[in-house]
Amino acid sequence: MIRSREGIQSNQQHPGLKDSSAAAPPALDIGNSLLDIGDSSATEAILRVMAEAHGLDISRYEETFLRKMIAKRLAATGLTMAAYAGHLAGDREEAEKFTHALRINHSDFFRNPLTFALLEQVILPGLVEAKRKSGGDEIRVWSAGCAAGQEAWSIAMLLDELTGEAPSYRIFATDLDGPDLALARTGVYSVEGMGNVRSRHLRGCFSWHGDFYAVVPRLRARVDFSVHDLLDDDSASPVASIYGDFDLIFCCNLLFYYRPDARQRILDKFCRALSPGGYFVTGEAERAIVSNQKRLYPAFPLATIFQKTTFPHR
Ligand SMILES: C[S@@+](CC[C@H](N)C(=O)[O-])C[C@H]1O[C@@H](n2cnc3c(N)ncnc32)[C@H](O)[C@@H]1O
Repeated sequence: MIRSREGIQSNQQHPGLKDSSAAAPPALDIGNSLLDIGDSSATEAILRVMAEAHGLDISRYEETFLRKMIAKRLAATGLTMAAYAGHLAGDREEAEKFTHALRINHSDFFRNPLTFALLEQVILPGLVEAKRKSGGDEIRVWSAGCAAGQEAWSIAMLLDELTGEAPSYRIFATDLDGPDLALARTGVYSVEGMGNVRSRHLRGCFSWHGDFYAVVPRLRARVDFSVHDLLDDDSASPVASIYGDFDLIFCCNLLFYYRPDARQRILDKFCRALSPGGYFVTGEAERAIVSNQKRLYPAFPLATIFQKTTFPHR
């Protein structure tokens, strides 16, 4: 559950979407409407209308995903494909609804149990030990595409237990501009959204206010939320992080929504921002996308945790 601008609301995915942590892109219950949206030229017509009438570039999204989202809007509006393109051209509100639908924002605390078990028991203790030995003062983490913040706070709960004065930790959590980031910053979650959070963390990392939980100031001081479009090539890493050099980057359930060239641009950015030997965590459905990267190799074969090579041309 997350809070919306109207108050606390269910953290359900967009209606009809299955959990994207296990398979991608998510299936949609749209009956036969996918059959009605025609071939790629129909999708291209929508891309053109969005660009020419509204200045919105959605061309970087993966085509099957785009077609599913168009089908979803057809089902919601009751329009045919031919009518929809015309309708979209003159209706800014519909263009915004469509853009919003493209930002799948489902998230959860400790979303992938294997990832978080390995983090807690192996990776984070190893990073803390290495920092201690090298005299490093801070473990640096980037949660990219953080939605309403559950991923960033989950990492914070684990690091809170493992770190102290030196090393301490800092998490930079980023997403596109929008209400989710505002919700993430509040650190307030309804009781129903806390199902994956262990009682020890509930007691130690949140204050309870009857029907919602709020992240305690100790953790809030360690997590910095900011706007960062991963496809903006002018910005190499979250502005507040200044120079990147991350020990750990999370980018889960985001890459598969994009076309291969856009995915590669994002992965190149992460490879530059990771320190040598730093870890990269992605979603189960993105394993194949990341597996072919020369600079990242699987650190734990069963999990979707990769590590950056320590030398340039592995
Ligand atoms: C499905 S959520 C994943 C949330 C979280 N990482 C998780 O796995 O639970 C995908 C998030 O990626 C964000 N996103 C999509 N494209 C992005 C981009 N180009 N730059 C930054 N964030 C993006 C969306 O706004 C959304 O909040």
